[in-house]
Amino acid sequence: MRRGILEKYRQFLPVTEQTPALTLYEGETPLYHATRLSAELGVNLHLKFEGANPTGSFKDRGMVMAIAKAKEAGSQAVMCASTGNTSASAAAYAAKLGLQCYVVVPHNHIALGKLSQAVMYGAKVLAIEGNFDQALSLVRKITEEYPITLVNSVNPYRIEGQKTAAFEVCEQLGEAPDILAIPVGNAGNITAYWKGFKEYSQENRIQRLPKMWGFEAEGAAAIVRGEPIDQPETIATAIRIGNPASWKTAVAAASESNGFIDSVTDDEILSAYRKIARMEGVFCEPASAASVAGVIKLHKQGRCPAGATIVCVLTGNGLKDPTTALETVDVQPEVIPCSKEAILQFVKEEKGS
Ligand code: F0G
Repeated sequence: MRRGILEKYRQFLPVTEQTPALTLYEGETPLYHATRLSAELGVNLHLKFEGANPTGSFKDRGMVMAIAKAKEAGSQAVMCASTGNTSASAAAYAAKLGLQCYVVVPHNHIALGKLSQAVMYGAKVLAIEGNFDQALSLVRKITEEYPITLVNSVNPYRIEGQKTAAFEVCEQLGEAPDILAIPVGNAGNITAYWKGFKEYSQENRIQRLPKMWGFEAEGAAAIVRGEPIDQPETIATAIRIGNPASWKTAVAAASESNGFIDSVTDDEILSAYRKIARMEGVFCEPASAASVAGVIKLHKQGRCPAGATIVCVLTGNGLKDPTTALETVDVQPEVIPCSKEAILQFVKEEKGS
């Protein structure tokens, strides 16, 4: 029988008798061995596909915890700022418990699939003429003043739920990997994974800790630059963030683990985005590909240890952002006459090319 993360990892989570048994069956996502990419890079590469969660991103792990605790505390409404995935997840879990959900997103900078999810799950969607950082600052102020629960990752319950992904990686591999590569946006997820690995290590469930390699998008790489960016820009809208809320804990995760936080360009992200789909059969969203883009970049620089066991976290599902897929990849459907000959002609040309 499948269990959600609140039940499965209860002993590691702030679950009490009063906590609602909330689940949409989040977690238990696949860890794929990336055989073709491993051969190309000379490493033992795995992909933790968080796009297989109920709303299509890793956010469901933290959100099930945060929304359950909000309900337990008697809250009737939740609010978040979001580049899209957090809003989809908050809306779904709020719907399941009958809570009102308000989401504030940057107008024109959120993928279509994510927007349609939030709307369908019944959230009140407010698109501001501003970016994610401004949205977060506004919802922080509002939730301090009004009886609405903030469910961004500054809510500690979010981090608690999200750390369960690290537990799963260890269980699926039988040990912690040498390296955990992960996209960094608001920096909650890298914080959560590191907490999860440390907790499993303290319980002697793993014998070593991984190095944490975090990757920001270059146009939004505040941590790498060492200062907030007023107008972050990247094609990976999910991580278009200029002032990460969990900045300090992300830096601590990188330094305590002897890892680092680096950046990747939009071209590197798009190239990895295509490779993951074409070589491994996994369709992730652009921001997710930052983890693999980072490993490829490090490999080119000769900084990727040969044979290392590396897990790249693929944070969200590619179907969330069909626009980027169609606009940036040369896979436009070919329009041909409706005949067998026309199709065969195409197949022969392909063979010859
Ligand atoms: N990948 C995806 C697909 C995301 O949606 C996010 C964050 C990240 C990576 C970065 O994770 O913020 O924990 O460092 N999305 C947030 C949102 C900001 O609103 O959905 P992080």
